[in-house]
Amino acid sequence: MDVRADAADIEKAVGVLRAGGLVALPTETVYGLAADAEDPAAVARIFQTKGRPPNHPLIVHIGGAEHLDAWAEDVPEAARLLAERFWPGPLTMVLRRGARVPYETTGGLDTVAVRVPNHPVALALLDAFGGGVAAPSANRFGSVSPTTADDVRAELGDGVDFVLEGGACEVGVESTIIDATSESLSILRPGGVTREELEEALGRPLDVPDTSEVRVPGQHPSHYAPNARVVLVDPDEIVAEAERARELGHRVGVFLPADLSGTPVDAHAVVTVPASLDAYARGLYGYLRELDRQGCDLILAYLPEQEGLGLAIANRLRRAAGPRPA
Ligand code: TXA
Ligand code: MG
Repeated sequence: MDVRADAADIEKAVGVLRAGGLVALPTETVYGLAADAEDPAAVARIFQTKGRPPNHPLIVHIGGAEHLDAWAEDVPEAARLLAERFWPGPLTMVLRRGARVPYETTGGLDTVAVRVPNHPVALALLDAFGGGVAAPSANRFGSVSPTTADDVRAELGDGVDFVLEGGACEVGVESTIIDATSESLSILRPGGVTREELEEALGRPLDVPDTSEVRVPGQHPSHYAPNARVVLVDPDEIVAEAERARELGHRVGVFLPADLSGTPVDAHAVVTVPASLDAYARGLYGYLRELDRQGCDLILAYLPEQEGLGLAIANRLRRAAGPRPA
């Protein structure tokens, strides 16, 4: 299963991209659904396959920081510093759109989101392809991002022309997105590069607005969501809440904090969440998928401490627990 894509697979994937097709691409964060970023028809297929509204901009993945000026204009010095420090890695920067980027890719915006993924298969593909690939997470719009190739197949099936195998994603939550359209940077979405790391690199504090990442109208608050309803509770209350939910007839799935591991829980299914934030982030989407697979209709989860990767985990869990469309 976990056999990494080889040179022949990369060659095949390049052929698919050149023909306007879609490739599932492993990255260190989550799997992406990739198309030639300069091919509007191929990009349109991404939106169709995901069921994503076309005004939601995509991230352009490039092979190295040295290509940045081919895709973006007026790159501020602070953005160059971050590119130098964090690429390849889970950092996306929103910059002024370069002329070669079609509006289909930017959702009509005059800005473009760019990142260099830190995964050998993704880098091999970008190197062989030569261009940039537009890639959102390879899930249906609003649902849980895939962190294995099997997750992608379960989500999108025949909607993808070719799946590149890259094993389980090491970071497990999406990239941090920074608005770098001016020297005063701000975080649009917390992710794999932590606020602390960014502030240290910049030598100054960064704004983290508590609004969502997206600057497009009509975005629904529920996102990153499994089929089961997600409810956030205090970790100390989780065992008692599970019992209550069971009494109400729920098939309840529980995120059990590692320090309570071994505690008997009256639940349909339990996942034990590791104490380290890195491991929590790596496992997060897998836990949500697993509890769905086990047929839970309600998931009780808790927010981690708000530092390091805890910011990204909390952001995704809040959105997973957000109101659903009627
Ligand atoms: O880790 C990741 O970032 C993964 C992997 C595949 O690279 N990709 C990912 O893409 O999470 P997606 O499409 O699921 O989320 C990208 C977010 C969207 O919320 C989008 O609105 C925002 O980035 N975005 C993209 N371009 C933007 C822009 N020009 N201005 C503001 N937000 C932008
Ligand atoms: Mg996504």
